[in-house]
Amino acid sequence: MTPLKMHGSHILSTGSAIPDICIDNDLLGTILDTSDSWISTRTGIKERNILGRDQSIIDLATIASKKALTKGLLQAEDLDLIIFATSTSNDLFGSASQLQHALGAKQAAAFDITAACSGFVISLIIAHQFIQTNVYNNILIVGADTLSQWVDWSDRTTCILFGDGAGAAILQKNQDNDILSFEINTDGSEAHQLCINHKRNFQQDTKHNNLINIPSNNYYQHLRMNGKEVYKFAVSKVPESIGKCLKQISMNSKDITWLLLHQANQRILETVANKLNIPVEKILSNIQFYGNTSAASIPIALDEAFDAGHICHKDIIAIAGFGAGLTWGSMIIKWHINE
Ligand code: UT7
Repeated sequence: MTPLKMHGSHILSTGSAIPDICIDNDLLGTILDTSDSWISTRTGIKERNILGRDQSIIDLATIASKKALTKGLLQAEDLDLIIFATSTSNDLFGSASQLQHALGAKQAAAFDITAACSGFVISLIIAHQFIQTNVYNNILIVGADTLSQWVDWSDRTTCILFGDGAGAAILQKNQDNDILSFEINTDGSEAHQLCINHKRNFQQDTKHNNLINIPSNNYYQHLRMNGKEVYKFAVSKVPESIGKCLKQISMNSKDITWLLLHQANQRILETVANKLNIPVEKILSNIQFYGNTSAASIPIALDEAFDAGHICHKDIIAIAGFGAGLTWGSMIIKWHINE
């Protein structure tokens, strides 16, 4: 049997979108028992943006995707696949097909990935497999979440953390491979630490002696998180995971130009950097402006850092996502700018 020839992939372009309504810490202090001082010291967040009444997650995802297509000089018809990483889909069957339609990406297959704040990293890894095996050439990966719709706005321990947004990246087949290494993990035994549970109710079936269970008034509960446990998980597992990725390619943390972590808490970003002996100046962070945008946080930060001219050709970027599941995953990429 002829061995399978593996192809390389690189990130061609990125895009992002943030909704218009901005809620700063002072405003939260008028509706909750909290303060700018508590939120900024404990998390690094100063403000976050949330979806307006007449906007949907698909609107945000479409804007981010169109920006990535324009920057990559591609048309929507050039896309072979769309992977939509979201845990706040507006349809339980998935939203990727709505995004495909909104973009007019008629040739593209499309599906959703639900993996919370690790969703973008996992989707990028999946896309890479499709390119390596020569199935597809151009894949759009979108991370988008609107957790403002799912948090309890009277719970100061969670609602202050999250914001809405979307980020997109196009992964393209390339002669050189710039996805240098990756790894993903799950610990389902800790799923209860961060969840949005489904609540099942049943109608009384008096006619049939309660033999038939007829579901009635089912709904999802608000987001619940044990912040302390999730914090401990992140600062212990993420450095370990990045370390494994570096080891796979015989690199060490000195080789990293930028550290791009899921934007959950500035203290987590700095603790992970310290554990890996990476100077804090190498952390890409925009958490003060957007809070935790879940699956969107990594692609938004990547897009902004590239647009601001921070990321240059051949830079080595360590990326890690972590969150509900519990899931976590890392990858090391080499940034590639087409000449
Ligand atoms: O995207 C998924 C990944 N998510 C994460 O990575 C989140 C990880 N966890 C965290 O970032 C932190 O645990 C939090 C920011 C959520 C909380 O920070 P903390 O330093 O762990 O605070 P804490 O939960 O220990 O709370 C300390 C105190 C408590 O009061 P007492 O019991 O000491 O009197 C809380 O009730 O702060 C109180 N508190 C607040 N006070 C003012 C909790 N939230 C607030 C608030 N404003 N918003």
